[in-house]
Amino acid sequence: MHGKRILLIVGGGIAAFKSLELVRAIRRAGGSVTPVLTAGGAEFVTPLSLAALAEHQVHTELFDVTEEAAMGHIALSRAADLLVVCPATADLLAKMAAGLASDLATTLLLATDTPVLAVPAMNVRMWGHAATLANVATLRARGVTVMEPDEGEMACGEYGPGRLPEIERIMAGIRAALVVETRLAGRHVIVTAGPTHEAIDPVRYLANRSSGKQGFAIAGALAALGARVTLVAGPVELPTPPGCTRIDVVSALDMAAAVERALPADAAVMVAAVGDWRVEAAGSKLKKNGAPPTLALVENPDILATVAVPGPRRPRLVVGFAAETENAVANAVAKRTRKGADWIVANDVSGDVMGGDRNTVHLVGASGVEDWAEMPKAEVARRLALRIADELA
Ligand code: CTP
Repeated sequence: MHGKRILLIVGGGIAAFKSLELVRAIRRAGGSVTPVLTAGGAEFVTPLSLAALAEHQVHTELFDVTEEAAMGHIALSRAADLLVVCPATADLLAKMAAGLASDLATTLLLATDTPVLAVPAMNVRMWGHAATLANVATLRARGVTVMEPDEGEMACGEYGPGRLPEIERIMAGIRAALVVETRLAGRHVIVTAGPTHEAIDPVRYLANRSSGKQGFAIAGALAALGARVTLVAGPVELPTPPGCTRIDVVSALDMAAAVERALPADAAVMVAAVGDWRVEAAGSKLKKNGAPPTLALVENPDILATVAVPGPRRPRLVVGFAAETENAVANAVAKRTRKGADWIVANDVSGDVMGGDRNTVHLVGASGVEDWAEMPKAEVARRLALRIADELA
């Protein structure tokens, strides 16, 4: 983020105090911050603390003679590489969608042609309200990047989506919006992630413990390098990483069809834990009438192996994952040949990898095996994305 100028608009919400942490993170990454504090934001953080951390004057007033003389508000909005609205309250999103210019922050947002990243934080019901959903859709259609909030317990005691995303995720959003790195610009990468659900009947299904975290992190890391990423996601409740086009699917057959439609691609990274079997005849709801039912299973198509078949539509680089509890490397070596993949990332899932935040992987390629140390899934994702960028260079 070296040399990048961020104009940070701090809205009025309980999450506003986290904007201070964001200022530090941006500056640590080499960026500079010009803070703009709304009247609501000033109820939660003081101009003085923002100015001290940003080492920059804080702008608050639209019609301030001194400020206007130093730098007009129009110039202020243009002298930035990115406008970040954090927290973006329901009120601010509504004003942005309506095109209001009632204070300095909204005026800047209307007067700018610089990319805008909005980081929402609000009560779960406000986030889910039809008005907010419509405003978010309008803003996204206009090219504003509106991040998905985190899910969890809220300051008001309710639970659900609406929390300000973790600082690390906001930073990834900023990097993606700035397209700081362009090594994968112009490349299309398909990533599959998460589990699949295979219907037993209309109310029951077969599934697995995949959380989707590793696949989502990889999709985000690829987008952060400038790739166009199609993320084909099984049923998981994770926010879409910035810069990715997400296609939600349920079953292995849906996933296979979505991958097929997303081709051609320069690379395919199959991280999903695809259900190996589906129930042959998943008809009406099974009833308990004496003996337990017998489920006849049929094998699902192997998406990885299908994509890896040589031909004009084969991506240049096909990467598979292998979840192993023993003999990780030997199994992955065999799996690489069997499925025709270029690389297999062998995943030791004997611990609490599934659902956890750390991973120990081995990268199995044509020229041998690399053992990576245990590290956060975000780091595995970043390293893998960089390796993919090298390979496609
Ligand atoms: N895969 C796929 N389509 C399937 C099954 C698997 O694309 N129907 C992909 C996964 O996304 C992953 C790799 O193949 O990249 C995993 O292969 P798989 O044979 O399922 O291996 P494991 O899950 O490791 O299990 P096993 O070795 O028991 O087969």
